[in-house]
Amino acid sequence: MARTLPFLFLTSHRGAISCLLLTTFLCSISYFIGFYQNSKIIFIADPYSTPNCLHPNLTTSQRPSVILDFESHHTASLTPSSNFDLKPIEFCPENFTDYCPCQDTVRERQFEMSQMLHRERHCPEGDEKVRCLIPRPEGYRTPVPWPKSRDFAWFANVPYKRLTESKKKQNWVRLQGDLLVFPGGGTSFPSGVKGYVDQIAQIVPLRTGDVRTVLDIGCGVASFGAQLTNFNILTMSVAPRDIHEAQVQFALERGLPAILGVLSTYRLPYPSRSFDMAHCSRCLVQWTGYDGLYLMEIDRVLRPGGYWVLSGPPIDWRHNYKGWQRQPQDLEKEQASIEDLAKRLCWKKIAERGPIAVWRKPTNHVHCIKKSKILQSPPFCAANDPDTAWYKKMEACITPLPKVNDLNQVAGGDLVKWPKRLNTAPLRIMNRYINGVSVTNFNQDNELWKKRVSHYGSVLSSLSAGKYRNIMDMNAGLGGFAAALSKYPVWVMNVVPSDAKNNTLGIIYERGLLGTYMDWCEAFSTYPRTYDLIHANGILSMYMEKCDILDVFIEMDRVLRPEGAVIIRDHVDVITKAKLFADRVRWQSWISHSELGPFHPEKILFVDNSVKMNANQVNSRQFINHH
Ligand SMILES: C[S@@+](CC[C@H](N)C(=O)[O-])C[C@H]1O[C@@H](n2cnc3c(N)ncnc32)[C@H](O)[C@@H]1O
Repeated sequence: MARTLPFLFLTSHRGAISCLLLTTFLCSISYFIGFYQNSKIIFIADPYSTPNCLHPNLTTSQRPSVILDFESHHTASLTPSSNFDLKPIEFCPENFTDYCPCQDTVRERQFEMSQMLHRERHCPEGDEKVRCLIPRPEGYRTPVPWPKSRDFAWFANVPYKRLTESKKKQNWVRLQGDLLVFPGGGTSFPSGVKGYVDQIAQIVPLRTGDVRTVLDIGCGVASFGAQLTNFNILTMSVAPRDIHEAQVQFALERGLPAILGVLSTYRLPYPSRSFDMAHCSRCLVQWTGYDGLYLMEIDRVLRPGGYWVLSGPPIDWRHNYKGWQRQPQDLEKEQASIEDLAKRLCWKKIAERGPIAVWRKPTNHVHCIKKSKILQSPPFCAANDPDTAWYKKMEACITPLPKVNDLNQVAGGDLVKWPKRLNTAPLRIMNRYINGVSVTNFNQDNELWKKRVSHYGSVLSSLSAGKYRNIMDMNAGLGGFAAALSKYPVWVMNVVPSDAKNNTLGIIYERGLLGTYMDWCEAFSTYPRTYDLIHANGILSMYMEKCDILDVFIEMDRVLRPEGAVIIRDHVDVITKAKLFADRVRWQSWISHSELGPFHPEKILFVDNSVKMNANQVNSRQFINHH
């Protein structure tokens, strides 16, 4: 027994070895056959090196080595069906160069002018949607880079003269040769925005990090927001598309955060308690009209303790009524009624110096509730979500602040100052306003986005070289992408889809970042060619069932600057399809692994249109430009 056991063991061991060798042999054969058949898929073709030169490094993140072939190796549904149109999208006619689908100056004529209803978003639906690519204006050039762009823009890019003439005395913008020059004038500050902002800084703590997010209603060419960049303050400059021709387009061309918008009947597309300061310099809004609706909307979006700065009529009417060609008694009445409404909203007037008046929103509503009968305050809004603001009608009521335990507490909590605010756990997370998002999630999300942004920087050289300025994040989540970009000289429009599972826009504002709600089945409230980089994380899988993804691509192309870039992150199946759409809208794109490497199903479609286009594509754009 003692001898037979090792023998038996040896026999079975030999069998196992033979079996292993056979398996290894068969596997190797199968591997090499597979390798031979799929060599194009497995290796990365470097378009910048000698043709057919293969690079076996799958994980490198250098752009030339990340062009992968993901075609047809997945599920059957990925293969375009026979009726799937792969033709490149045609260009729109030349008169579409400044087409804004939801702010179309022709379409707006169908809508009433009362209460500026015609200037609200009215988006085309179904067959009304334009399915062509917006051509650039003739002579279009690479925009002036930031920070020079704050003061100069190419006239060819925004070829509109009206403001250079109608606002000449107020120094909004001048035309000098082929450049538009922005000397920093405005209706309320013809002799320069610097002195004007310095005056405000004597009343409002602009230099301390207390004020970071500002809303400028009726922004003109956004010179106010431009000046505030010197204080590290981010201003959302808002104005409609009206007789102040292309004002918002000028602002964006200057590299300033701006969006088309109007105080009309809908809430502004921001959550409650978003802005540290709101400002109107002669913005022509009837603040006391419509039962005080508009001042109540400002109250909704101001954070507790936020500042409201008003200049222009009726402020300082005693000195200015002649210049404004108004009757002093009318202006006096107007001011009295603003003062009265502000009091009834429980705001405190903190100063009126020369042309500028400043009020402050209370830090909580304890007093306001107690005194509401004596003050004859408007009613507090009934329980509706104060952060809902996508096509939501305004109501003449005071948006209640979160409850506090004592008079000295700030409703919702005390915000830390900028820049600490950016990475401090937001109060809405601490107070558990957002389902299932913890402080740990927030910190992990920040770390994740740092890694992702560093990967993006290694792929898109213009990002790491600081050449991008206006950035759009189509699905901003907690704002981690924008926060990780803060090392670059950029600003980010953080978009939270109106039907996102979690409404995180309040968190984004608490971090001291800007953003808006949006439904990506519609067009964004901006002009064509206004963003250098668009980031679309998970947006395609989110909208796939909701609307035609081709329309989403056409819209992205509309807002993207001609030499801009796009980063689309999604599941490999979606990315494979996205590549087909990217080709149809004539982008220079390639599929890449994410920073998680080749074995993770999340992939990235990078688009970099600063890459030279081939002759056919250049011709087709030029053809449109000259016809
Ligand atoms: C006389 S300009 C003043 C521009 C700038 N604030 C300045 O001081 O130079 C009036 C501005 O208010 C905007 N505006 C007029 N009605 C508005 C409304 N209902 N909502 C938002 N902006 C409005 C105009 O489009 C324009 O930008």
